[in-house]
Amino acid sequence: MKILVTGGAGFIGSHVIRRFVNLYPNYQIFNLDKLTYAGNLENIKDIENVSNYTFLKGDISDLEFIRSIFKTYKFDAVIHLAAESHVDRSITDPLAFVTTNMVGTAVLLQVFKETWKDNFNGKLFYHVSTDEVYGSLGDTGYFLETTPYDPKSPYSSSKAGSDHLVRAWGHTYKMPIKISNCSNNYGANQFPEKLIPLFIHNIVQQKPLPVYGKGINVRDWLWVEDHAAAIDAIFHKGTLGETYNIGGDNEWKNIDLIHLLCELMDEKLKREKGNSKNLITYVTDRAGHDMRYAIDASKLKNELGWTPSVTFEEGLSNTIDWYLNNQEWLESVTSGNYKEYYNKQYTKR
Ligand code: NAD
Ligand code: DAU
Repeated sequence: MKILVTGGAGFIGSHVIRRFVNLYPNYQIFNLDKLTYAGNLENIKDIENVSNYTFLKGDISDLEFIRSIFKTYKFDAVIHLAAESHVDRSITDPLAFVTTNMVGTAVLLQVFKETWKDNFNGKLFYHVSTDEVYGSLGDTGYFLETTPYDPKSPYSSSKAGSDHLVRAWGHTYKMPIKISNCSNNYGANQFPEKLIPLFIHNIVQQKPLPVYGKGINVRDWLWVEDHAAAIDAIFHKGTLGETYNIGGDNEWKNIDLIHLLCELMDEKLKREKGNSKNLITYVTDRAGHDMRYAIDASKLKNELGWTPSVTFEEGLSNTIDWYLNNQEWLESVTSGNYKEYYNKQYTKR
């Protein structure tokens, strides 16, 4: 089987690629990535010479390029992760999100359809999406697979749009599709613009920790390798046409998570207790900031037997160790256009 993984040089994609290359030597794994600021081949350096792995540089929204690689390789399956993924960037540059997340997904669907026409036997288009498509929760309740879509940011709207496109190609052309919607991931290789790696980086450098609003927004955190394991389970055992929610049953108010992170960092860096907490700075809230996400993953657990493998405390501690031991990675991924972003100005509340 030839599998095209898109976005495999990014955070989650790198863990998916490594898992599939190492666990399934009979599959030919192709990694298609544009290498935007968020994509870095350092993330998968350890497998670059493995015989069942091939890297292809290109843009998913480039129709002729996608046609050319499908003509050459005739991929049997697609695991589609490539996306613009950061909510803050979607607020300042929304059109890039529409182009990659919506046009790019439509191009992949269309070329997959053109390649296999009506003979989809044994084929699969698996789309990796986010819980943000469901919108924002109040104090109670959970996102189910049946929760109506209500995306609020340009990022989540573009992901919701891509989910609809995948279902439309599945419904109209009888294409074999699967979709999963996952909660917030954390772990190695995450670009240091997202909360956890940004704050680890800032604590190391003794820079302010910009907490949006009052810090009371809630996210449901999952270790990235557990997400990769869930994708594996859904890819192999999930029912065609179905959607699966993925989440860690692990809700944290931002400020509580930040306090835990600060305590762990003080211990690991052998700094005086309270040192990192002093860096906390409340800044103007993210525009349209979703209040709470919480996933009900019981369908995935009951039907496919998936469960998270680590507690949050273990996962977070290992994640901090990874960033502290991989300062060269940090230097390498932050050398491009990142500096401008990293030094962005916040307004104190
Ligand atoms: P990321 O930003 O770390 O990586 C995205 C990758 O896609 C990068 O390697 C980038 O170079 C590549 N890419 C971007 N535009 C491209 C284009 N036009 N053509 C080809 N490649 C392109 O993202 P991530 O956090 O690893 O997220 C991966 C997927 O999982 C996304 O679809 C995202 O919506 C989804 N997701 C992320 C999370 C999370 O917490 N990070 C949670 C749920 C779902
Ligand atoms: O829920 C899944 C989504 O999780 C994914 O689809 C997205 O790709 C991923 O980026 C993530 O989105 P969030 O916006 O929830 O993640 P982020 O790490 O940007 O922010 C987490 C929370 O922390 C959010 O409430 C905003 C807050 N925050 C974030 C940053 C970067 C701050 O308070 N300060 C910050 O500097």
